[in-house]
Amino acid sequence: MTKAIKKAVLPVAGLGTRFLPATKAVPKEMLTIVDAPVVQYVVDEARAAGIEHIVFVTGRNKHVIEDHFDIAYELEETLRGRDKQEAIALLDKIRPGAGTTSFTRQQAPLGLGHAIWCARDIIGRDPFAILLPDMLMKAQKGCLSQMVEAYNTHGGNVISVQEVPEDQTHNYGIIERGAIAADGSFPITGMVEKPAQGTAPSNLYINGRYILQPEIFDLLQTQAAGAGGEIQLTDAMLQLMQGQPFHGVEFKGQTFDCGSKAGFLAANIAYALEDETLAGEIRPLLSQLV
Ligand code: G1P
Repeated sequence: MTKAIKKAVLPVAGLGTRFLPATKAVPKEMLTIVDAPVVQYVVDEARAAGIEHIVFVTGRNKHVIEDHFDIAYELEETLRGRDKQEAIALLDKIRPGAGTTSFTRQQAPLGLGHAIWCARDIIGRDPFAILLPDMLMKAQKGCLSQMVEAYNTHGGNVISVQEVPEDQTHNYGIIERGAIAADGSFPITGMVEKPAQGTAPSNLYINGRYILQPEIFDLLQTQAAGAGGEIQLTDAMLQLMQGQPFHGVEFKGQTFDCGSKAGFLAANIAYALEDETLAGEIRPLLSQLV
């Protein structure tokens, strides 16, 4: 019997230097895609997959993320006074319930592996999900929901991957894949963080969604710095793989890397075109511009 995935970690401590000056006072996770902050889409994806508790690993200047997922008492009272039912319902829908979020600080920027390790006490000894909020995954069935299906069949650890052009493999974690099973998933037989050009074991990159067993924390505890001088989650996963199964799921959907300006802008356009109230206005504007 596999233990259900009820908890997720969202590492949100990054400085967002690529978006300066926008991110001088506003966390990058709060930049908006159409009318909601990036992090909202990722929290929605997690909750849709059955996640009941979200641990945010934050840093200095990130308190507005905490405010965003809290009740905005004065605002909501004012909306109620004005009978703005639609707005009230929207705010109710997107807010995780009381006691279902936790916030802890990374304190020092030592890498993704270190950020995840900072959540160890709150997660405890349960399997859990990780969602990197830079990566926006657009699909009918959310990426984490697709992975939970594979997890329910195979147990162990599950990682979402997608194809990436050969000349970009050095920007990501890249996996080595075994034989593809009937449900489309496959065992992962190796992985490497940001391989040097021409050395990647495949063109399948880790796109920012993971289901991991708690033993990962024991490995992260002593994990030495890897690529870029940072404590890498990929290195700890490679070690965990020596004793536990890892399965890959090729995500069926579109991924936007909102950590890059081009990806962020593309996500805005894609979501705007899908919004019935906006698409009619946006389409002619876009064709005029292009
Ligand atoms: C991290 C992971 C990498 C993954 C990537 C996805 O890298 O370490 O394995 O492919 O996220 O965005 P980062 O983007 O933090 O350098």
